[in-house]
Amino acid sequence: MRPFSMLMFMTICLLLIMGQPAISEGLPQPTLSVITNDPDDVIMEGDTISFFCETTYGNAKRFFLTSLGTNETKEQSGSQFTISQITSYYSGAHTCKYCDQSSCSEPSDPEHIYVRDTFPEPIISVQPRKIVHSGERMTITCSAHFDNIIFFIYKDNELVMEAAASRNTTSYEIQSMAKQNAGQYMCWYKKTTNNRLIQSHPSDPLMIRIKDLPKPTVDVEIPKAEVTSVRINCTVLGTNRKLWFQLLREDKTVEQEVEDTEQTKVTFTIMDRNEKYYCIYRIRIGTDFADSELSDMIFLGKGLADYTMGNCFHVVLSAILLIATGLILFNHIRQKQNRREPVPDLPAARLLIVKESEELEMEIQREPAKENEYKD
Ligand SMILES: *[C@@H]1O[C@H](CO)[C@@H](O)[C@H](O)[C@H]1NC(C)=O
Ligand SMILES: *[C@@H]1O[C@H](CO)[C@@H](O)[C@H](O)[C@H]1NC(C)=O
Ligand SMILES: *[C@@H]1O[C@H](CO)[C@@H](O)[C@H](O)[C@H]1NC(C)=O
Repeated sequence: MRPFSMLMFMTICLLLIMGQPAISEGLPQPTLSVITNDPDDVIMEGDTISFFCETTYGNAKRFFLTSLGTNETKEQSGSQFTISQITSYYSGAHTCKYCDQSSCSEPSDPEHIYVRDTFPEPIISVQPRKIVHSGERMTITCSAHFDNIIFFIYKDNELVMEAAASRNTTSYEIQSMAKQNAGQYMCWYKKTTNNRLIQSHPSDPLMIRIKDLPKPTVDVEIPKAEVTSVRINCTVLGTNRKLWFQLLREDKTVEQEVEDTEQTKVTFTIMDRNEKYYCIYRIRIGTDFADSELSDMIFLGKGLADYTMGNCFHVVLSAILLIATGLILFNHIRQKQNRREPVPDLPAARLLIVKESEELEMEIQREPAKENEYKD
C-alpha cells in the first residue's frame, strides 16, 4: 500500500501544482475598448467600428465578445472584433473574455456604445431678441456640429427655408417683422454619411413674438450751479406692469439700469455729458423680455456749458459794454469831424471795429521797423 499511496500523493500534488495558476491566480482580466473613425467617438449607423480585447497574457487561444443587451456572443482567435455596417441593434454594454487550453479569464468590465440612427439636434438662435418690434430686422440661425449638411427651417410646422450649407450654420433673415412672421420656429438637418442620408433630431422650438412698446419720454434737468451732473427723467405712460429701465450709450451698451420697478418714471444721474444716451424700458413676458423703442436721443455735448445762465450774462454784459464804448467813440469822432467835414451816418458798433482795426494795423507796421533798427 505504501508505494501506491505515495504515488497517489504525488499525483495529487502534481495536479494541484498544475492546476494552481488556473484556480488561485486565474488569467488576468482583459480590458475592452472601442475604436471608431470619429474623433469624438460618435458612432452612426453604417459605421465600421472595432472592439479590442486587450490582455497581458500571451497565450490566449480564443476571444469572446458578448453583447449584454442581446446576450449574443462572438468567438474568434484574434483579439480585435471588427463590425462593419453597424446598426442601432448593437447599442448597449459589451464585455469580452479569453481562454487558453484549460481555463478562461473573467469577463472585462463592460464597455457601452451608442449607435446613433439620427444626428444630434442643431442649435437654433435669434438676433436681436425673441420678442421684436414690428418692422424690425430679425435673423434666425441654425447651427450644427457638422458642415456640408442640408438645413431645414420650419415655422409652425411649415418649411420656410431649405439650404445646403458648406459651413455648419445657416441663417433665415426677415428684413421687416410683420405679424405673419411671428410663431414657433424649429430646424433640423440632413447629412450624408456612409452613403446614407441621415437626419438629425429637431432643434428646440423657438417662439418669436412681436410686441410694440412705445418709446419712453425723456426730460433733462441741468442743475443751475456749477454742478457737472445731469439728471435724466425717463417716463413711461400708461402701464401697470413691473418695468426694467435702461440708460443706453450710443453703442447700445447699458450705462445704468433700474430693475423690476413699479414706478413709471426713473431718474438717471450722469456725469459724463459728452456721450449720447437713449432710454428704453423692458417688460417681462414669460421668460423673455420685450424692449421698448429707443427714446429720443439725449445729447449733452461740450457746447452745452456755453448756454448756461452764467455765460449768457457774460455775453449780454460784453454787448452792452461794446455798444457803450461805441457810442462814446462815435460822439467823440462826430465832435471832431463836425469841425472839419460832414461824416456819413455809420452805426456805432461798426465804426468801433473800423477804428480798432486801423489802430491795430498801424502797430503791426511799426513793430518790424523797430526790429530792423536794432539789427542795422
Ligand atoms: C444570457 O445567456 C445566459 C446563458 O447563455 C443566461 O444564463 C442568461 O440568463 C442570459 N441573460 C439574458 C439577459 O438573457
Ligand atoms: C461651427 O463651426 C465653428 C467654426 O468653424 C465653430 O466655432 C462652432 O462651434 C461650430 N458650431 C457648432 C454648433 O459646433
Ligand atoms: C424729474 O423727476 C423728478 C422727480 O419726480 C422731478 O422732481 C423733476 O422735476 C423732474 N425733472 C424734469 C426735468 O422733468
